Amino acid sequence: MLQASLWENRMLSDKMQQALNQQINEELSSGYIYLGMSAEADRIGLPGFSNWFKRQYQEELEHADRFFNYILERNGSVDLRPIGQPELAEETPLSLFEKSLKHERHITVCISRLKDLAKGESDHATDVFLEWFVREQVEEESNAQNVIDQLRLVGDNANGLFLIDRELATRTTSPAE
Ligand code: FEO
Repeated sequence: MLQASLWENRMLSDKMQQALNQQINEELSSGYIYLGMSAEADRIGLPGFSNWFKRQYQEELEHADRFFNYILERNGSVDLRPIGQPELAEETPLSLFEKSLKHERHITVCISRLKDLAKGESDHATDVFLEWFVREQVEEESNAQNVIDQLRLVGDNANGLFLIDRELATRTTSPAE
């Protein structure tokens, strides 16, 4: 009965709204992590890696924006929460991308939980909205894995690392529509 009235008012449930707000925080935190990675790559002396992580930072802001806009579109309330400090120490190119992959797997779990919640609440609009993120996470994990594979292949070879850095310097893409 309650669910029916929520639908009539096109409102998000409190639980769904909270979860979507939490995801804004996850996406902004992701951006902060990638911004830290960009600085760390620059410190190591790899401008291409630094560029790649900076682009990724921008992409994460766009992800947060999608959740922000969606909540407002559904007449919900945005609740911005604190963002933690990225946990980065003395990183290597490989450890940065391993952390990236681990983090993206975490985000994939977050999106899957949101999807389960939307389905459980018969919130079809949110369920459909989340489809883009389900596809995006496949790409996010694959991007990180591809660079890890290349880094493992070149090992300690400086020329190989230089070539990967040059390739990562070319990343200019905006998020896919
Ligand atoms: Fe917004 Fe990298 O997931």
